Amino acid sequence: KNIAVLFGGCSTEYEVSLQSASAVLKAINPDKYQVFPLGITREGEWFLYSGPLAGIRENRWWRDEKHLERAVLSPDRHTHGLTAAGREIRLDGVFPVLHGKNGEDGTVQGLAELAGIPVIGCDLLSSALCMDKAFAHEVVERAGIPVPASVVLHEDDWRERLPEIEGMAYPLFIKPSRSGSSIGITRVEEENGLVPAIQEAFIHDNKVLVEAAVKGFEVGCAILGGRELVVGEVDEIELTHGFFNYGEKYTLATSRIHTPARLEKSVRQHIQRMAERIYRILGCSGFARVDLFWTGKEAVFNEVNTIPGCTEHSRYPAMMKAVGLDFPAMIEKLIAVSLE
Ligand code: DAL
Ligand code: MG
Repeated sequence: KNIAVLFGGCSTEYEVSLQSASAVLKAINPDKYQVFPLGITREGEWFLYSGPLAGIRENRWWRDEKHLERAVLSPDRHTHGLTAAGREIRLDGVFPVLHGKNGEDGTVQGLAELAGIPVIGCDLLSSALCMDKAFAHEVVERAGIPVPASVVLHEDDWRERLPEIEGMAYPLFIKPSRSGSSIGITRVEEENGLVPAIQEAFIHDNKVLVEAAVKGFEVGCAILGGRELVVGEVDEIELTHGFFNYGEKYTLATSRIHTPARLEKSVRQHIQRMAERIYRILGCSGFARVDLFWTGKEAVFNEVNTIPGCTEHSRYPAMMKAVGLDFPAMIEKLIAVSLE
């Protein structure tokens, strides 16, 4: 079967995608799948890349002209999907290993759906819904699951709405509604930090979430599947200070990830059931990592990542490994369930 693996992307999480995609490309079984690595530059140019994996990992792939051919993924079903250097390639699947905007948000999923090519991972609607934290919260809360208290601000009238925030207790988290890897997020300790943090978040999106901090700590649960689900272990983020921001996510300088979480089995099972419910409520398929807070008494929904970080050191593969699916087996199963 022919599978296009998309990497890079017009997104602030471009670099993260390069790491995830090199791990994924390495893990795909070449006896079963003919892989077409499709690189998208930060500027949004598409290329079929035939060079070494290190070129992706080290962000040199786009300069490697010998191994690049311009490529188009066409929604016209007569062109069989992918056209590169005048050659038409019939695709059996598109695997966007892209994070954040223009990849994890339903855009690429919509293009593949138009072209009639199965997407590996979540579909257009669930991708778009999970990308937007404000909408995801509304849908999950409606199903009776606790979410953090928040105020949603829009770029046009946010100053008029500031009084609504006055009653909220600090610290507050100011988040672009659609972002990833904590880019554009600030933890604000007191009122004088509020406006600069809101302005910073508006650089990344025209909708901003002002969220009350949840007491407790962050936990996550990896889920894989469509009709039947594989539910991964629950993990826990241990912080010594600050929050799990971009730097911490990729260096773990002052934080640690525990897989499994240091919680009783019954609590972990409760979190797994919640994660499974949230996955269903938001219409996910393929795979996703559901992030929650554990307060000591209850689980509070945080967000869903429909294309979770997938480097060999990432949380999603670790949670799956803990239930017996190592990285290549996890990728194999993900592709198989998505192409079913
Ligand atoms: N957005 C990053 C890649 C994650 O959630 O893993
Ligand atoms: Mg995220």
